[in-house]
Amino acid sequence: MKILFYMPHADAASWLYDFARVLPDAELREWQAGDTAPADFAIVWRPPRDMLAGRDDLRAIFNLGAGVDAILALEHERPGTLPRNAKLVRLEDTGMAPQMAEYVTHAVLRYMRRFDEYQMLQSARRWQELEAHPRETFTVGVLGLGVLGAHVAQAVAAFGMPVRGYSRSARQIDGVTTFAGEAQFDAFLDGVKVLVNLLPHTPDTGDVLNARTFSKLARGAYLINVARGGHLVEQDLLEALASGQLAAATLDVVREEPLPPDHLFWREPRITITPHISALTLREESVAQVAQKITALMRGETVSGVVDIGRGY
Ligand code: NAP
Ligand code: GLV
Repeated sequence: MKILFYMPHADAASWLYDFARVLPDAELREWQAGDTAPADFAIVWRPPRDMLAGRDDLRAIFNLGAGVDAILALEHERPGTLPRNAKLVRLEDTGMAPQMAEYVTHAVLRYMRRFDEYQMLQSARRWQELEAHPRETFTVGVLGLGVLGAHVAQAVAAFGMPVRGYSRSARQIDGVTTFAGEAQFDAFLDGVKVLVNLLPHTPDTGDVLNARTFSKLARGAYLINVARGGHLVEQDLLEALASGQLAAATLDVVREEPLPPDHLFWREPRITITPHISALTLREESVAQVAQKITALMRGETVSGVVDIGRGY
């Protein structure tokens, strides 16, 4: 069995070493430009088109992340790029769910306890008490109730704020009021104080964080975008902050990554930026999951986490 590996900026030698330990019979190699030699599986993150185009020998492509938008964009831009019969399999949790829960609860609590405002008061050397936000109306709405969104919604609910969740199909999650489908979108948004985005980036969800969406939230609401930059209409965020409809935002993802040095977001004190780190791909957990699925596919078994290309996630 031949396996190609491609992950820019990663320590490829360590990944290949770890895969070789759990798949001792595999011939593993790091893909280099021009390599068209046969392969059965590809393990990738943001692969270049040349790596996958015309590789009809591939049985599966394993994406070293939860979101497959970058790979599907290759197909969208030039149909026929993805190998015809290869399954596209994404990571499921592999330690990302607890990281995402830490990141989002940290941001929600920071806003609920007004630590962002206390930080600004400290910068101005002002000793001033602010009124507490009432917990019972500090409603948190989570867009996307998949592997990560469901875990995050439950983690936030443990702090006693009302939590709502929104998905494509109906979901039931203890402690979370759930909404499904476009017909329930406005009811989900109505009066939400913190909007958390954990949707996949698909043709249906791009630009979902826009002026209309913000207008349905409680006045002075907060935005936490930990999914993809393409979900956010950046100008609408700046205008919502200027008008007071939004009080602040935490962005782990932006349209152009890295965020250019002259981008307005760097200069807006109510925007907190992190460099796409809310849930990192962890090597040990990811190697174990991918290797287990390759072994299952080799035995002719089915695996979970297979992407529905038409749906986009
Ligand atoms: P997932 O398990 O596929 O869950 C996706 C959720 O979104 C599902 O609940 C799905 O609804 C819902 N959804 C999809 N399209 C929808 C639509 N048009 N309307 C309403 N709901 C829709 O994905 P995941 O593993 O939780 O990951 C979510 C995303 O997080 C990834 O795609 C990635 O972009 C992002 N992410 C970011 C980082 C980071 O470091 N910033 C790390 C990991 C992942 P159903 O339940 O009905 O299918
Ligand atoms: C990271 O952004 C991922 O999709 O895993």
